[in-house]
Amino acid sequence: MSRSKRKLDHIEHALSTGQSRGTGLDDIRFIHQSFPNISVDEVSLSTEIGELSTSSPIFINAMTGGGGSATEKINRELAQLANMFHIPMAVGSQMAAIKDKTEQQSYKVVRQQNPTGIIFANLGSEASVDQAKFCVDLLEADALQIHMNVIQELVMPEGDRNFTGALRRIEQISNQIEVPVIVKEVGFGMSRETAQQLKEIGVSIIDVGGLGGTNFSLIENARRDDPMTSFDNWGIPTAVSIAEVKSIEKPGAILASGGIQNAHDIAKVIALGAESAGMAGNVLKWIRDDGIDRTIVHVESMLNELRFIMTALGVRSIQELQKSSILISGRTKEWLVERRID
Ligand code: FNR
Repeated sequence: MSRSKRKLDHIEHALSTGQSRGTGLDDIRFIHQSFPNISVDEVSLSTEIGELSTSSPIFINAMTGGGGSATEKINRELAQLANMFHIPMAVGSQMAAIKDKTEQQSYKVVRQQNPTGIIFANLGSEASVDQAKFCVDLLEADALQIHMNVIQELVMPEGDRNFTGALRRIEQISNQIEVPVIVKEVGFGMSRETAQQLKEIGVSIIDVGGLGGTNFSLIENARRDDPMTSFDNWGIPTAVSIAEVKSIEKPGAILASGGIQNAHDIAKVIALGAESAGMAGNVLKWIRDDGIDRTIVHVESMLNELRFIMTALGVRSIQELQKSSILISGRTKEWLVERRID
């Protein structure tokens, strides 16, 4: 199957059978306070992702590019959204642009639509330093995401079978490119052991990409005649994954993604310790089902609701929200107790 047909298949399945629930965020509750003593106008949503400052604690996570005009159209609309709300946006894996020059436009459109915004380039951990430099230059990107997707590759009949040397390659890339490197999972979550390994090679921004939203085992299985179901519920739920990464000493910046759907999810992941929340599948669904104009309304309402949640909690900034009290119950609590994470 061609790479570009596979991209389009992924989009279709991501919007139908490829979503799971179970981020663990239902196990998180805020503690209501009756005297927040604050006005909505005092709330600031600005945050920092390492050295990058953004006016809202959300970003559009990596999805597409390299599927011809269909993915160019999606990227154009996502970039318009990013531009309008001044939120960072990642493109999908740029390996397609490296392998086929005619695919470059489906990525370049993101910079054309958003000349001064924060854009993340994206490659897999098989990439070389030269390929990483090429992808950053193509978009004049502000950071490079390197994704790790072992499970997706295993479930994909034509996927990779050799996963040696990934950490070493990530280390070389982060030592030799000029922009920050963000290492991300794609929906199976990140453990504290993985976070520690990344810290030791100098990576200071981690996107946990937790279980509970877009699920590439389900997506790949929808494309297989003989489904391989072992990985359908594999991985670390988003809520747990943030706590895992946060539990290492000086974890750096934490980005939370995997099943983020609304303002309440965003508030919860920040209270667990994230700097910003990434959305992929849900934004794609809005764009496809409701169109760009309604999507703008959805994002606007979501950010307003986040401001209201912060008002109810009496917190004026994302830093204060990170420190607010939460109760953790259910399977998330069990996991944290079992792993001795406070
Ligand atoms: C993705 N994702 C992804 N990630 C990545 O690093 N490179 C990529 O090329 C892609 N491609 C891709 C295509 C489609 C259609 C989807 C829906 C997702 C993964 C994405 O960035 C994110 O990590 C996961 O989707 C989990 O977040 P959500 O979708 O649950 O918000």
